Amino acid sequence: MAREDRPGDPGANLPSVLVVHGPNLNLLGEREPEVYGRTTLKDIDEHLIALGRELGMAVETFQSNSEGAIVDRIQAARGKIHALIINPAAYTHTSVAIRDVILAIGAPCIEVHLSNVYKREPMRHHSTIADIVVGRIMGFGAESYTLALRAAARITSGATRA
Ligand code: DQA
Repeated sequence: MAREDRPGDPGANLPSVLVVHGPNLNLLGEREPEVYGRTTLKDIDEHLIALGRELGMAVETFQSNSEGAIVDRIQAARGKIHALIINPAAYTHTSVAIRDVILAIGAPCIEVHLSNVYKREPMRHHSTIADIVVGRIMGFGAESYTLALRAAARITSGATRA
């Protein structure tokens, strides 16, 4: 049933955004806090859902350590979301499968990183999705996601042309 056919559904008619977190991001808060900060993934997700409500967007979040599970989740969102926010984590630098599924679903996509990958090892400088996303936000820690959600709000409202 289409969202607009579900009266009373808090997500009805709202633009929907899927936020995908890649491998090891479940360990945020404990993992290399000097690089990634002390905010946990649960805190990030709760904040994004609350901010989504404020901005008039339905936000769903998903984390997996497995490339196939990430591809499956994005495939499942095909035709159902208005924007995708993704931090592919280590898969940023290697995954053709994630690039392909982003192209397959066709929703505008924003790439997020907590750290500024260009201040880090050269292997982190390459992204398999950099040229197919609307934009990339990195280096602001957990705030990178907040900025991405605000950008998604502008994109889904038509204020920013993809
Ligand atoms: C990261 C950067 C990647 O190079 C790394 O593999 C991660 C996190 C970031 O958010 O800064 O796991 O995507």
